[in-house]
Amino acid sequence: MSRRKVGILISGRGSNMSALIEAAKAPDYPAEIVGVLSNRAAAPGLRTAAAQGIATASLAQSKFPTREMFEDTMTQVLESWEVEIVCLAGFMRILGADFVNHWRGRMINIHPSLLPDYRGLHTHERVLADGRTEHGCTVHFVTPGLDEGPAILQARVPVLPGDTPDSLAARVLVEEHRIYPEALRLLASGKVAL
Ligand code: GRF
Repeated sequence: MSRRKVGILISGRGSNMSALIEAAKAPDYPAEIVGVLSNRAAAPGLRTAAAQGIATASLAQSKFPTREMFEDTMTQVLESWEVEIVCLAGFMRILGADFVNHWRGRMINIHPSLLPDYRGLHTHERVLADGRTEHGCTVHFVTPGLDEGPAILQARVPVLPGDTPDSLAARVLVEEHRIYPEALRLLASGKVAL
């Protein structure tokens, strides 16, 4: 079986990255994780990936004169790893149209809400403030509009009495770790396309 080569973009702890790395250890998984790229050198996920023998790199956007030059360099690093599919996993930068279009149909993201509801940041706080009874997460294709691309998979969780942003985030995160590897499996095996 030929496995699709995947690069993961992170900014922080990388728990979704770890879920993808674990899933890709299964012999019948249709993708392999070939590299992890962070925009923050201090991202804990970089050490986690390196400890598993995965190639890592970090690039600070502030070191580049323009966002386009930063993003072109990210593409060069990913392509030096022969990446075919990009997974955003807590990558906390808005990406420009050139980068997004370069990876169109080949780049997916995990977002902690039931899109199209609650695009953007602080989703758990906003769900609680609105008194919603249901929340969840979405894996979607990345398109130029923020958190706007078509969904591949979603998972729902209840909002429970007494929930805090942290308790709700933890319940959603369990589902993120379940559906992200499943969505990547669908894309890498050609069962979904943009
Ligand atoms: C997750 O909640 C993900 O949905 C969001 O950023 C967070 C990243 O967490 N995009 P982690 O770095 O994967 O642990």
